[in-house]
Amino acid sequence: MIRRPGARRGEICDRLLEALVRELLSPLTVVRGYADTLRRDADALPRSVVRECLETISRGTEQMSRLVRNVMDAQMIYLGTVDLGRMRADVGALVRQAVDELGLAAKSHVVESSVIDGVGSIVDPIRIRQVLSILLSNAAAYGAEGTPIRIEMRRGPVSVSIHVSDFCGGIPEHRRREMFQMFSGFGAARGTGLGLSIARGLARAHGGDLVLAPGSGPGCRFVLSLPIAT
Ligand SMILES: Nc1ncnc2c1ncn2[C@@H]1O[C@H](COP(=O)(O)OP(=O)(O)OP(=O)(O)O)[C@@H](O)[C@H]1O
Ligand SMILES: [Mg+2]
Repeated sequence: MIRRPGARRGEICDRLLEALVRELLSPLTVVRGYADTLRRDADALPRSVVRECLETISRGTEQMSRLVRNVMDAQMIYLGTVDLGRMRADVGALVRQAVDELGLAAKSHVVESSVIDGVGSIVDPIRIRQVLSILLSNAAAYGAEGTPIRIEMRRGPVSVSIHVSDFCGGIPEHRRREMFQMFSGFGAARGTGLGLSIARGLARAHGGDLVLAPGSGPGCRFVLSLPIAT
């Protein structure tokens, strides 16, 4: 992994910190507001309203911790300090686990997966599940409601690839490179704009890669490749 020169490194860390502070403000304000309401009025409020407040607080804190984790991961990848707990893992099993974990996010999608068993790779299983989860939650977030998300595994002579396809309406040519850069999604309502840069960084730290397959089909096909363990 490349270690970055000091000045550029400082600039990126500053941008990450700036983004973190900016993006934390809104969920923090919501959580604070709902917590104050409960502190003041919990005894007088109907149980259903109390439950709603608690759910909003829970979603807000989850959003904040996801943001903090994303910023920490993006920084670690940028600085080239990824620390992987590698072990031999069955890639198909990791795919299945990532699909199971997707749960709620994919509620409005049909997930179709075809997995090959018995293909091993030396990976950090938590990090590879994270990569798959980033791809799957993007497919769920950007794919039109009711459309399928397809996961397919292909085995090559030295590497295995996992293809995640959706029906999001496609990506214009000029955005295809940009979307793997940090903050590419900033300003958009859906997230922090760090997911794909983290996913590609983690794939490359494993000696693999993550690309968006060429073609202007009805959706996107992301391809994660990993070396097969001999
Ligand atoms: N499957 C997809 N279909 C269509 N557009 C996508 C897809 N995946 C990513 N994108 C586009 O690429 C951008 C970058 O994706 P990325 O996952 O890095 O960030 P994000 O989803 O905006 O935020 P987060 O960091 O919270 O995931 C998105 O904002 C979106 O515009
Ligand atoms: Mg995303």
